[in-house]
Amino acid sequence: MSMASQVASGTGPSSLGLSLLLLLLHLSPEGISGHSASLPPGCLMMGLLKASCQGLGLRTFPTALPLTVAHLDLSHNRLQVLQDNATRDQPDLRHLDLRGNQLEGLAPGSLLPLRWLHALVLAGNSLNRRYVSNSQALWPLSHLRLLDLSANHLESDMVSFYVANRSSLWSLDLSNNLITRLARSTFLGAPKLLDIDLSDNYILQIEAGAFEGLLQLRELSLARNSLHCISDFSLRALWRLNLSFNALQFFATEEGNWSYQLQVLDLSHNQLRAMPTPLALPHLHHLNLSDNRLTSLGPHSPSSPRDPEMVPTQSASDPAADLPELTDLDLSRNQLDRLPVGFLSQLSALQRLSMGWNCLQNMSVQQPGPGPPLLSLRSLDLQGNRIQTFPSWVFEILPGLRALDLGDNELQLCARPEAGRAGPFQGLRQPFGSAFHLKHLSLSRNGLRRLCATRLPPALLFSLDLSGNPGLALVPGDFRGLQHSLHELSLRGNGMASAHLGLPCLWELRALDLSGNQLASLPQSLNCSPSLHSLDLRRNLLQALDTEVLGAHLRSVFLAGNPFLCCSLGWLATLASANVSVPDSEEAWCVYPGGERGSRAPLARDHSHLCNRWQWRGTQAGWVLLAVIGLFLGSCGATALLQNSGKLPWARQLRARPKPEPEHKPTLGRESVVERREPEQK
Ligand SMILES: *[C@@H]1O[C@H](CO)[C@@H](O)[C@H](O)[C@H]1NC(C)=O
Ligand SMILES: *[C@@H]1O[C@H](CO)[C@@H](O)[C@H](O)[C@H]1NC(C)=O
Ligand SMILES: *[C@@H]1O[C@H](CO)[C@@H](O)[C@H](O)[C@H]1NC(C)=O
Ligand SMILES: *[C@@H]1O[C@H](CO)[C@@H](O)[C@H](O)[C@H]1NC(C)=O
Ligand SMILES: *[C@@H]1O[C@H](CO)[C@@H](O)[C@H](O)[C@H]1NC(C)=O
Ligand SMILES: *[C@@H]1O[C@H](CO)[C@@H](O)[C@H](O)[C@H]1NC(C)=O
Ligand SMILES: *[C@@H]1O[C@H](CO)[C@@H](O)[C@H](O)[C@H]1NC(C)=O
Repeated sequence: MSMASQVASGTGPSSLGLSLLLLLLHLSPEGISGHSASLPPGCLMMGLLKASCQGLGLRTFPTALPLTVAHLDLSHNRLQVLQDNATRDQPDLRHLDLRGNQLEGLAPGSLLPLRWLHALVLAGNSLNRRYVSNSQALWPLSHLRLLDLSANHLESDMVSFYVANRSSLWSLDLSNNLITRLARSTFLGAPKLLDIDLSDNYILQIEAGAFEGLLQLRELSLARNSLHCISDFSLRALWRLNLSFNALQFFATEEGNWSYQLQVLDLSHNQLRAMPTPLALPHLHHLNLSDNRLTSLGPHSPSSPRDPEMVPTQSASDPAADLPELTDLDLSRNQLDRLPVGFLSQLSALQRLSMGWNCLQNMSVQQPGPGPPLLSLRSLDLQGNRIQTFPSWVFEILPGLRALDLGDNELQLCARPEAGRAGPFQGLRQPFGSAFHLKHLSLSRNGLRRLCATRLPPALLFSLDLSGNPGLALVPGDFRGLQHSLHELSLRGNGMASAHLGLPCLWELRALDLSGNQLASLPQSLNCSPSLHSLDLRRNLLQALDTEVLGAHLRSVFLAGNPFLCCSLGWLATLASANVSVPDSEEAWCVYPGGERGSRAPLARDHSHLCNRWQWRGTQAGWVLLAVIGLFLGSCGATALLQNSGKLPWARQLRARPKPEPEHKPTLGRESVVERREPEQK
């Protein structure tokens, strides 16, 4: 019997001092194994304080765990009822995880011994049953900070029972239940709550004042509910509010000058047709309005058409916004048809803007706004619109732009007849000509076939994505000015043949993605990209790699999906000896020439044996072929000669001899006959 179990089972008061001493002795890493003797089979100690009895099929609360255990994981067992005094042996538990059991009954005294419990996780049980008595079992937990009741089939009225008398509680998780309504009294019992998760319920209605008493509330998630309208949001102390995935058509904050503390507001995936009003959130830095129905950023005011005096001073589509700290704005997946230049110019701290998947189309119709340039914007996502012309004034009002994503548009870069030098289309022919600070540009999936000497952003361009433009053909001149800046280039999925891949020397190139093309050889220009370290060649038509053109810094190359020749893999050995890794070598294959079925084999395998045999059989086939030709020619000649003379000595020989083994057929002329004979002579 180990000393630990003596401690655990020691009862007499006289032995208490000794037990404590022994216990202290055991507070060393070597003592852990001693403790585990008293653990239920399958439980693990993780350090001195944590025990995990996860997924062991336990039906009762384990007894006689080490006294040191403060954190007990009993998740995913089969506890159904927690009996009175069940937790008697663990009075010092701080954290108890009972997630994923089948709990439906908590006897009134079941948690009574856990005076110091801080966190109780009851997620994924059936505490909707007997909720009145079960909730009373929680009353003694006077130090409870965190209570997780998610996924317990709880309905609205049951919640107030569990929340009653929870004045110590800071964090409450009620997500994934069946709540439809929050009453004014729901959270009265837990006035010190800092965060509440109510996501994944069916909340339709929130009574006014439901959160009023919660003066310290900082985080609230109401995501994935059925809310239609928030007409006077008044939680001024809140930092984070998540209202995503509801059915909101309207969101309005309260008027007044005690400012909101809100920093993160997620309104994505709703049905908003207008911006929240009034938009004065001085500490907001993240606003997500993705996936709504905004057609303009104008305020939602049905009265304005009737009241011409109400027309906003700026412009109908640009509401006044007081968002001085906003850095991230997501307007993607709406129905906006123009860049809201006036609105954006009020956002002095904005760094990242997404307007992907909207209805931007002809950006040249829009004239630059009057406002000052928006200096702070670093990243602009315009993916998935229908932009055909991209005017250069965008870079004039966004001089600090570093990353621009124009993927999934219909950009036309080649000269159009009306695009004169001085006309309204000035700047359209060289849209990127003034993008002096742009570092990342994506022109992926635009149906581009030529770049037509478009001046790509000069000087600083670091990465360029031209992937997904099937049929693209490049000439070295397309990369004018980029030879010393471009580090990353993607030409993935363009179906380009080697002849259409006109790359100049890209001296600084580090990563090149050429996957999904029709290359039969590596571009020779790679030999002037000495720093290249990552190369993706998947899904091409390569039979071998010319390692001569690859620089010394290459670290990884992806190769799967090429018809490499199994019997000329010398280059693979060269790569290996240069420490170049082939991360997808398991998926790469090669072919044995000869085209038989099943001649495809994993690239990484050792092919020497099969290749020797193949070479042998190859020569064999050659011999047979030559023999047949020789035989044919010979017999033709012979018949011709025989018709003439019929007495040439070798013709007679030929007839007289028995048919030789095909591989010994002497058809290659004298030398090979001699060669073949040599082994026989040995
Ligand atoms: C629980 O423990 C207390 C004190 O040890 C004891 O008085 C009480 O009878 C126990 N209750 C049950 C139901 O075992
Ligand atoms: C709070 O708990 C006490 C016992 O600790 C109980 O008497 C009281 O009824 C409870 N109050 C509510 C509102 O449930
Ligand atoms: C809001 O909740 C949704 C759904 O739970 C989640 O995906 C999203 O990340 C949350 N938003 C924020 C800003 O945390
Ligand atoms: C607004 O703030 C001023 C002082 O800053 C105060 O006198 C006034 O009462 C406040 N108004 C409201 C509606 O809170
Ligand atoms: C905005 O919300 C959408 C949907 O919930 C999400 O996909 C997107 O990543 C969010 N945007 C940001 C910037 O977090
Ligand atoms: C874009 O707008 C201009 C000015 O209104 C117009 O002349 C041009 O035809 C439009 N281009 C396209 C492709 O719609
Ligand atoms: C390859 O890597 C091994 C171990 O990581 C190292 O010892 C060896 O020097 C490397 N060889 C080359 C050519 O870099």
